[in-house]
Amino acid sequence: MSGQESYYVTTPIYYVNDDPHLGHLYTTVAADVLARHQRLSGRDTFFLTGVDEHGQKVQQAAKARGIAPLALADEVVARYQMLWPRFSISNDDFIRTSSARHQRGVAAMWRRLRENGALYKGFYEDWYCVPCETYWTETQLHDHGDDGRCPDCNRPVERVQEESWFFRLSDYQQPLLDHYDANPDFIGPESRRNEVRSFVAGGLNDLSVSRTTFDWGVPVPDDDGHVVYVWIDALTNYLSALGFPDEEAPRMRFWPASVHLIGKDILRFHAVYWPAMLMAAGLPLPQRVFAHGWWTVDGEKMSKSKGNALSPDAMLAQVDADVIRYFLLREVPFGHDGDFSFDALKRRYNSELANDLGNMLNRSLSMLHKYRDGVLGEVGEEQPRDRAWIADIEAMQLEVDRFMRQQAFHLALERIHTVVRHGNRYVEESAPWSLAKQQQQARLDGVLYHLIEGLRLVVLQLSPFMPNKCAAMMAQIMGDRADEAQVLSHHGGWGLLAAGHRCAKPSPVFPRME
Ligand code: MSP
Repeated sequence: MSGQESYYVTTPIYYVNDDPHLGHLYTTVAADVLARHQRLSGRDTFFLTGVDEHGQKVQQAAKARGIAPLALADEVVARYQMLWPRFSISNDDFIRTSSARHQRGVAAMWRRLRENGALYKGFYEDWYCVPCETYWTETQLHDHGDDGRCPDCNRPVERVQEESWFFRLSDYQQPLLDHYDANPDFIGPESRRNEVRSFVAGGLNDLSVSRTTFDWGVPVPDDDGHVVYVWIDALTNYLSALGFPDEEAPRMRFWPASVHLIGKDILRFHAVYWPAMLMAAGLPLPQRVFAHGWWTVDGEKMSKSKGNALSPDAMLAQVDADVIRYFLLREVPFGHDGDFSFDALKRRYNSELANDLGNMLNRSLSMLHKYRDGVLGEVGEEQPRDRAWIADIEAMQLEVDRFMRQQAFHLALERIHTVVRHGNRYVEESAPWSLAKQQQQARLDGVLYHLIEGLRLVVLQLSPFMPNKCAAMMAQIMGDRADEAQVLSHHGGWGLLAAGHRCAKPSPVFPRME
């Protein structure tokens, strides 16, 4: 289990009591972009998503519909599995917590915790929030205002009094603090790290980790009547999908995960409970947990009761999937909250994709066809302007990679966009039309070469964000060689295209939106 050469990115597993919405799409697209970026740089990559099927919340939702929890899960799972390909989500696996392989992993995790003395049996008497699947003590409720509502979601909590297994979370306060301090990148963004640190520094209670009042979950090994607390069950998916507890399973090479992408609301589970569990089980901790912010829609919080949750299918009816992918990661710094509106999307699309990028591709290929019959000539002698252009592209590639390691998608896209603007300036300043008029063929060839080879590298860097749009652009650039497997793989070095290469005729990839 090295985790050095390989890259493993996960999304949360989504509850099946609800249909997919913009929030689920967001994390999944972000994870997909990271996975595609890593594959492009040739890294052994594994990308996992899936669903969280157990727990009281799902059981209640199924009951309300008069169907079995598994029947509800099957229905919602089908929706996710139909949805993801429509957004080009390239997950390598899809984990269901009702599957035998996952339940085996959870049972093994439980036994390990128990053998290591991290579990004990007691009696739980406090409060529980079903929508959050979270326990609350009297004191925590009191601090929140004593109104019988969940400190996280503000919905009514219920009284729970039952025999329960406990996890010795309190033993891990110091080890967790030490871990945060020794690994400053463990939690991103930085502000969230401070938040988690002070939460843990404030003291940790042991965690109730089994329930007896319902049965939709993984049975506690060797203790009939108890089911494993849904968060212990769910977090273990990141390992069970790799074949845990079989340490020899080929996929176990991906552990520890490179990054768990999650929303800010579930950070405590991932940055406190999960690492404590792993420490107790004697397993390596993930390298990073990154918590993104929340989307509102047209300024309003999405909610089931308001019925304004934006469904990814409804979004697709209006806009191309790749454009939605681009917008989600470009509009809002990853880690911040943001607001989704089709107006904002249209503005960004028209200015950055239709105008800047689309134009650059169109005008470059049009000029190549107009002046040189679509065929690249010799590069000729490099001018300072050419060198500056190549240097900018090479710097961009390095910076994009650095930004992607920090999950700073907006900065990566902004950096790519500065190259696009540089490209348009390069065209203006080199004025290929005058070179053509003055019959300066050699220089004209040099300029067109630089433009188109530069575009190829821009498209390559953008391809994790917009795989289909980029494939369409790449097909035009690669012309006769469009079907070569390498087109969208890691030919990131300057100079793949050579004299004599024929590009396809331009056809607009980003028509203006009215
Ligand atoms: N099942 C748990 C996760 C277990 S992971 C081991 C869960 N599921 S969830 O379906 O409720 O939520 C999944 C994710 O959706 C969370 O990361 C949450 O932050 C995200 N979002 C839900 N609404 C959102 C927005 N409005 N905006 C952005 N993301 C949001 O929690």
